[in-house]
Amino acid sequence: MNSFKYKKNHLFCEGVKVEEICKNFSTPFYLYSSKTLINNFKLLHKMLNGINFLIAYSVKANSNLSVLKTFAKYGAGADVVSIGELKKALKAGIANNKIVYSGVGKSINEIAFALKNKIEQFNVESIEELKTIAKIAEQINTSANIALRVNPDISAGGHPKISTGKKTDKFGIPISDAKNVYELAKKFKSLKIVGIDIHIGSQIRKLAPFKKAFKKVLSFCIELDKLGFNIKNIDLGGGIGINYDTDEQDQKFLIEYTNLIKSTFKNTNKKIIVEPGRFLVANAGILVASVLYKKTIDSKNFLIIDAGMNDLMRPALYDARHIIRPLKKKVKNKTVKKFEVVGTICETADIVVKNINIYKSVQQGDYYFIDKAGAYGHVMASSYNSKSIAGEIMVNKNDYSVVKKRINPEDILKFEKIAPWLKKN
Ligand SMILES: Cc1ncc(COP(=O)(O)O)c(C=O)c1O
Repeated sequence: MNSFKYKKNHLFCEGVKVEEICKNFSTPFYLYSSKTLINNFKLLHKMLNGINFLIAYSVKANSNLSVLKTFAKYGAGADVVSIGELKKALKAGIANNKIVYSGVGKSINEIAFALKNKIEQFNVESIEELKTIAKIAEQINTSANIALRVNPDISAGGHPKISTGKKTDKFGIPISDAKNVYELAKKFKSLKIVGIDIHIGSQIRKLAPFKKAFKKVLSFCIELDKLGFNIKNIDLGGGIGINYDTDEQDQKFLIEYTNLIKSTFKNTNKKIIVEPGRFLVANAGILVASVLYKKTIDSKNFLIIDAGMNDLMRPALYDARHIIRPLKKKVKNKTVKKFEVVGTICETADIVVKNINIYKSVQQGDYYFIDKAGAYGHVMASSYNSKSIAGEIMVNKNDYSVVKKRINPEDILKFEKIAPWLKKN
């Protein structure tokens, strides 16, 4: 599945030696493999075969236009959470009737834009949002397809900062209130009830929470059908976890997850929407960095690299662990020692990888890469400390292309100005 492999001790992405790219582009940069993106999409597609389904790629995981276009070519839909993501999805050629719009805070402007573009469904997260969508649809003389995002009150495990399906999380409408909200929705002529939606969290590596959630949503759906609601879409959200250490278990879990979907919903004639993000893109991207310095404080070894929390927030944000490896494996001087790999940002939290074996002989200028950085990587990058925002490069077989330019401090400066009164003496 993964197209990042060592050949004769040098890392290749598909047919391209990554060190060759480093000759033309300075680090840090993100590097994506189009083959891995396609393989991931095709695999999920194949495994869902046999039911009526839509893969609505969760754009938040990686919103690069070329990534979106790659999926669009294979018939993907999109799960978006902002007008920006919606515009990108449309620009990449994703069909409007394959786009679902999630998120707790859709603005009036965003709702109007989505309505004009006739998206497949709004995943509505509150009564106030429902009323607002109804009002705007009426004003512009159209109707809005809606699903309620119900909160099934299920703990999905994993890190609390990426749990979304518990009663105490901000997302969705409690499943216990949802029937009344569907009844309310029915009263608005400008609303068309088309579905139901859940999303219980991200990086879920156990089947049990999915099993519980799917069961709950199915029985609620049956209840709604009995009440005369015409639910045609069941949106199961995203959340498929991946193994950040090795590739081994990814396929096994995917098989279990897709079998669960098929067995749970085999007797419904409804369209099953899934919103995977991480699974489709995480192992299709790496973050390439260079070693700046090393130092030892109180017997703790630090390796300072030119990529940090401004480029990849996940370790600082939710203690995510990524593996870091050299672009060039050493054949001599292979002994290793433990390092804490850190970025350049003036924050103690700017730790890229804790406690990892790195060659003892590592030195300034050596290239390293942070593996499985394709999801929730570049999309969360910032210019904190007025740093550049890393560029993005995509490989296709033996070819590669910059798919987003690095944003330099000079570019950022163009958006700033000194207030007029400060210019006077
Ligand atoms: C509503 C919604 N759908 C889909 C996803 C994608 O999740 P994942 O990347 O874990 O598949 C998210 C991310 O948390 C989400 O909030």
